[in-house]
Amino acid sequence: MNADDTTAEDATVRREPAPALPIVLVGPMGAGKSRVGQRLATELGIPFVDTDARIVGRYGPIDEIFAREGEDYFRVIEREVVAEALGESAVVSLGGGAVLHPATREQLASRSVVWLQVSPQAVAPRLAGGNRPLIAEGGIEAWIRIRDERRPIYESIADLAIDTSRRSVARIVDDITEWFGGRA
Ligand code: S3P
Repeated sequence: MNADDTTAEDATVRREPAPALPIVLVGPMGAGKSRVGQRLATELGIPFVDTDARIVGRYGPIDEIFAREGEDYFRVIEREVVAEALGESAVVSLGGGAVLHPATREQLASRSVVWLQVSPQAVAPRLAGGNRPLIAEGGIEAWIRIRDERRPIYESIADLAIDTSRRSVARIVDDITEWFGGRA
């Protein structure tokens, strides 16, 4: 990691949002999808769906699913939950790897997709003490590798990109609300 790596250094994206809900938040682990999603939903007065939380509610803790059944099984149940959530009039936050599924990418083509970006330096403290199975061994280096692998996917599906590295949650919510036309 670079000591002066204070911005995400991802692409800038700004396209028109889709005409209707949901607003979908994507991006790497620790980018703030859940925190921002919750506040955005409150601001817009609509429901918030966190697909990771819905998976946990139905199937148990994610690290235990990975340990017991493996990542491929996790992706199957994740797809089921994501397919359902993307049909709801809500703010929907997706787990970082949900976009790996081609059917999810296809669905996202007609949704308003916000890509939350974050630099390694800003994300490191946010990841500390977590129990994310994909970075349990490799830490921030694993996070960087996964982020780099997925960057082209995020870039291809995003309608709006926001670097969360040095922005407050309130400011990010304002940016998304303004982009969406202040409506829901
Ligand atoms: C994953 C991200 C996690 C969770 C799972 C796998 C990924 O969600 O779905 O650990 O593949 O990037 P967050 O992005 O909310 O951490």
